[in-house]
Amino acid sequence: MNYKFYNEDCISGAQKHIEDNSIDLIITDPPYGIGGDKLHKHYNRNEDHVIDGYVEVAAAEYETFSEQWIHEASRILKPGGSIYIVSGYTNLFYILKALRQTQLKELNHIIWKYNFGVYTKTKYVSSHYHILYYIKPGAKHTFNTFCRHDALEKSGSGGSKNYEDREDVWAINKEYKPGQKKNKNELPKALLKKMIAYSSHPGNWVCDMFLGGFSTAKVALEMGRYATGFEISQNMFDHQIREMQKIKFRSLAEFSQRTNELRSNQGVPWTPQELFKLKNRFNTLYKKHGTKKKTIELLCEEFGRGRFGIVNALKKAGGKQ
Ligand SMILES: C[S@@+](CC[C@H](N)C(=O)[O-])C[C@H]1O[C@@H](n2cnc3c(N)ncnc32)[C@H](O)[C@@H]1O
Repeated sequence: MNYKFYNEDCISGAQKHIEDNSIDLIITDPPYGIGGDKLHKHYNRNEDHVIDGYVEVAAAEYETFSEQWIHEASRILKPGGSIYIVSGYTNLFYILKALRQTQLKELNHIIWKYNFGVYTKTKYVSSHYHILYYIKPGAKHTFNTFCRHDALEKSGSGGSKNYEDREDVWAINKEYKPGQKKNKNELPKALLKKMIAYSSHPGNWVCDMFLGGFSTAKVALEMGRYATGFEISQNMFDHQIREMQKIKFRSLAEFSQRTNELRSNQGVPWTPQELFKLKNRFNTLYKKHGTKKKTIELLCEEFGRGRFGIVNALKKAGGKQ
């Protein structure tokens, strides 16, 4: 079975069901302690398609609540595992404080800029969330640096796509789903794909302590990861468990295999014979396919090397590029 979900409180539920050091990645979006069950007042939107049953946490309980669930998250994460916590700013302080009480180590404080901000006439429009990216020390953490863009890909403005994708301010739109059933605060697929691609491998376990619309779980499964987590609301849970039947494991094929792992010959010195062969193969493949990008991609496969290695070796070999 590649998933396991619990209609329970995540604190007692994790204690009951999830072993120490067993989860590779946690992505989670806790209730914000700002009357999330009344969020439509802030967003001024029609709630007809929003599933009832969102459970909010009282502001007075937020500090203890955060300490308890973050303690559990830290316990179940494997050494080297990663956790991403999405938070607004109202109660951010309590989340940061709770994180300090664990052994988790901060790697980035990401700003997620979204569309449809909270509108007001008398101050700036609130249009960002915080994403706290931490790891559990004790083993090398997974960070698939080139999982989305390799080192040589250029952006429209001529910069490096890889660098831009790894900056810590992310502008990602929320999804507009007219007429579809949804959770009050669903995270967009594009945001989840990014965190899952960088911080896990196919076959890893991804946990969401607050499943809501099960978005993390759905994207994780589509990307070939296993999924687990908790949702306290019975109504939301029952609806989403039915929805899970539609999810196709590994259907996001472009992400299901890409990892940071080295190819078979990466780091191995080139022999003069190999350089000679590389030059000839470049010329043949370039004639056939007509683009340098495609030719280099094929050479990476054929020679078991990374893109940088191929480009540098071609320079050395004097191939026509
Ligand atoms: C902000 S939403 C999560 C949204 C989710 N990330 C998504 O994309 O749909 C928080 C969810 O946590 C649930 N919740 C509140 N307290 C909980 C608890 N103690 N344990 C588990 N779930 C809880 C709420 O009912 C709500 O669905």
